Amino acid sequence: MTSVIVKANVNIALIKYWGKRDETLFLPTKSSLSITLDGLGTTMTLSKSSEDSLKIDKQTITDEKAEKVLRFISLVRSLYGISDHVAIDSQSTVPVGAGLASSASAFSALAIGLNALFSLNLSPREVAMLARRGSGSACRSILGGFVLWNKGILDDGSDSDAVQLFPETWWASLRVMVVSISTKEKIVSSRQGMQETQKTSPLYAAWVASDEPLLPKMQVAIERKEFLTLGMLTEQSCFGMHATMLTTNPPLLYWLSETVEVLNSIFAARATGLPCFATIDAGPNVKILVEQQHVPALQALLHNHHYTICSLGEGAQVL
Ligand code: PMV
Repeated sequence: MTSVIVKANVNIALIKYWGKRDETLFLPTKSSLSITLDGLGTTMTLSKSSEDSLKIDKQTITDEKAEKVLRFISLVRSLYGISDHVAIDSQSTVPVGAGLASSASAFSALAIGLNALFSLNLSPREVAMLARRGSGSACRSILGGFVLWNKGILDDGSDSDAVQLFPETWWASLRVMVVSISTKEKIVSSRQGMQETQKTSPLYAAWVASDEPLLPKMQVAIERKEFLTLGMLTEQSCFGMHATMLTTNPPLLYWLSETVEVLNSIFAARATGLPCFATIDAGPNVKILVEQQHVPALQALLHNHHYTICSLGEGAQVL
């Protein structure tokens, strides 16, 4: 095979990951749980070539982002004894580096693409573990629907895998409104940000300890399709994580004033009976969980913002 085309969707964590127990193997300090979204992601063509190269949306990239991708390709070459080089041509429907999980879909696409291009014959579990080495949260995008990333306890990371809890069809009425507030790249990357938080936030250990019990509760909420519990747990994990970010030294404030404006609109709407809940990652954009029947009311509320409505989506695929 000389060329493959692959596709991967972004995922949004309901129970967050922020911090590693092993920087080289990308092993997290705690387990996390996400949903894979339909329609926001990366389509990538990988071709054997005389040298490694990266194009994003037709532009040749040579910056830090390209270095991360090229480092990942070198890692795969050394892990599997490959000598070929790869030209990557990536098209994204997500703005890069704006806390919209673009790296999750990109590294998930890259891992599944390299597996196919080099006929590595890795299982989906092994592909997810490989994707994790590019960007931790990327392991969750290999699978569709509701996905658990186990933190694992082994030093070699062989038990830090991604597991599909429920398929994308499980909760057909669940929607995510992705409110795009800024597409500018964040100043502090997640990788650097989480390192600083772990080192300096006095709240970090308390967050990990208090967040861990939320995960089994979230699994039950999903199983029973209890939207209010799902929403409350999502906000608890998200704002707990942001509390650790804010108490990092120097503080990590990924929000903009419009982020706070949207949050206040959601909280006010909820007080008047509109069930909707927010989650935010390492960027200013807000993702709002809502059930299909309440989408029109939410659209009316946020009509002056840019947004996309997503259903749950499937895992990464070779096209
Ligand atoms: O995988 P990274 O390095 O892009 O980190 C993702 C961290 C958050 O998006 C903030 C949380 C999460 O669990 O996705």
